[in-house]
Amino acid sequence: MAKTGKPKEMEGEVYYPSEQVIAQARLKDWDALAEKAGKDLEGFWADEANELEWYKKWDKVLDDSNKPFYKWFVGAKTNIIHNAIDRHLKTHRKNQLALIWESEDGKTERTFSYFAMNREVSRMANIIKAMGVQKGERVTIYMGRVPEIVFAMMACAKIGAIHSVVFGGFSVDSLQGRIDDSNSKLVITCDGSYQNGKIVELKAIVDESIKRCPSVENVIVVKRVGNPVVMESGRDHWYQDLCALPIANGKCVTEVMDAEDPLFILYTSGSTGKPKAILHTHGGYMVGTYSTLKYVFDVNDEDRWWCTADPGWITGHSYLVYGPMINGVTTFMFEGGPSYPYPNRWWQCIERYGITIFYTAPTAIRGLMRFGESWPNKHDLSSLRLLGTVGEPINPEAWKWYHRVIGKETKPIIDTWWQTETGSFMITPTPVVPLKPGSGTRPFFGQEAEIVDEEGNPVPDNTEGYLTLKNPWPAMLRTIYGDDERYVKQYWSKFPGRYTTGDSAKRDSDGYYWIIGRVDDVIKVSGHRLGTAEVESALVSHPAVAEAAAIGLPHDVKGQAIHTFVMLRTGFSPSAELAEELRQHVSTHMGPIARPEDVKFVDKLPKTRSGKIMRRVLKARAQGLPEGDISTLEE
Ligand code: WTA
Repeated sequence: MAKTGKPKEMEGEVYYPSEQVIAQARLKDWDALAEKAGKDLEGFWADEANELEWYKKWDKVLDDSNKPFYKWFVGAKTNIIHNAIDRHLKTHRKNQLALIWESEDGKTERTFSYFAMNREVSRMANIIKAMGVQKGERVTIYMGRVPEIVFAMMACAKIGAIHSVVFGGFSVDSLQGRIDDSNSKLVITCDGSYQNGKIVELKAIVDESIKRCPSVENVIVVKRVGNPVVMESGRDHWYQDLCALPIANGKCVTEVMDAEDPLFILYTSGSTGKPKAILHTHGGYMVGTYSTLKYVFDVNDEDRWWCTADPGWITGHSYLVYGPMINGVTTFMFEGGPSYPYPNRWWQCIERYGITIFYTAPTAIRGLMRFGESWPNKHDLSSLRLLGTVGEPINPEAWKWYHRVIGKETKPIIDTWWQTETGSFMITPTPVVPLKPGSGTRPFFGQEAEIVDEEGNPVPDNTEGYLTLKNPWPAMLRTIYGDDERYVKQYWSKFPGRYTTGDSAKRDSDGYYWIIGRVDDVIKVSGHRLGTAEVESALVSHPAVAEAAAIGLPHDVKGQAIHTFVMLRTGFSPSAELAEELRQHVSTHMGPIARPEDVKFVDKLPKTRSGKIMRRVLKARAQGLPEGDISTLEE
């Protein structure tokens, strides 16, 4: 990207794509396609869907007769695995690499061609079926970043079971709640996982969680670290033993699914209460992830794509597993984190595997920036052609470092705004779009975003407001699993007729969108989405705590950090030891990512007259900002 002066027609600091980038790009005329899709939304998505294979094509592209319960590709038959694996077996891609994996310690590398993926996924699918799991039933997957997590997800999809992946960094309470809510009868896990050289005892956490989950009949355990685990006879099975059984090794036919059949649920934190199970379907999600990855990162068969996200989050689902495989690219998956044992670990992987497109989160970039340029400069990063970012707004300083030190000032940075709910990229450039550091630029083809005020009226440019989306899109969530009412209320009621994102944003005079942050009680800690309600309920489960409030405050590396305010029960008094104990308590119950930055003891909490904690007041006080409208405040 050449940073040329400030052209008259665009405001702010603009980075233009180089001639080379434009020459290489599959899509050169962004405006033309945007205009076409704008005029004919269904036609655009039908063209995209026609690039994939269907057992039976749709009768109707979009059925919006029962809003907001939109349906896509109505009447079509497919299976996402048919497009992510099966169809590649008929082409040159059969022997191309689908997945390259490296262990945290760098000593083991495993590679799988599309042919091998089919074998592994079929084997896992046969095993899951043999456990009595039927089409439409839920399977909870709680594993580390190992190839088997990909096999497990895809195996569920292949047989029409609904996977529910729980991030391996969550702990007992979070896991238990999610297994229970989904009513899973099978859990797939690992004995343990590695995290910065230490072992996370995944199986022990599963054991503890399912004590309170009567639905679970079987647990499949993939042996990864060899830590001692308790295996309950009849319930727990080593995956490696199951693989040796004849039943595991036959052919497995990919189940014919209706386009609207559920593919997976993924729990995510909302503004209140317990996490919501976001439901995605085979047909629309397949087309959405395929098409967005194709245009936005311009992927092709020669690419070695690396999305650093964990499969336990939506980014891992859409752009580590499904999107790349539907596009037939080679995906790289790394078991470890960016800086263990040294902060060159990721750069080393880019060099070692010739990564061409690298997609990560601002928090990781900020974290690595701290260690200085000498670490990336030790490595040949010349294989890279595109960089990407996701998860939270990227601050211009981190953007510029990424652009200069990693991208050598020549690689576009694709800043993709989207959500668990949207399933696929929503506001994002493509490689030919001029960039402004910190902006995801414009909505993807077929989408219109609008920023509105409290009453739903569009606000003028450069004014902050609620970010809403006006058009339906194929990879949109279909509902909150088991709670249609909450789906309508949460996403479609504040501004009827449009999707409410929960984010605040501004649009500039060039039509570029700038995300400011969440307007609800969702906190983004190192890009991980957590709810204040979950942290609070973990705190009040401690005997010393009467009431608790959690808020997110800005943090240099994490983006946001969790700060908590605690009212103690009578008989307990504040101390540094107790504060530490409470932080540990949250970590043990929810997972280390939810560990509060600090615990402040208070005598009272600001509340509305109806008894709701006013977190925004706490937030304002903590930052020394005006408290805003406090007419309903009652302490
Ligand atoms: C935030 C992650 C600014 C946003 C894919 C959104 C971003 C929430 C960006 C969804 C970005 C995600 N720029 N903010 N490029 N991407 N966000 O469900 O607040 O984990 O609502 O999905 O992350 O988080 P989720």
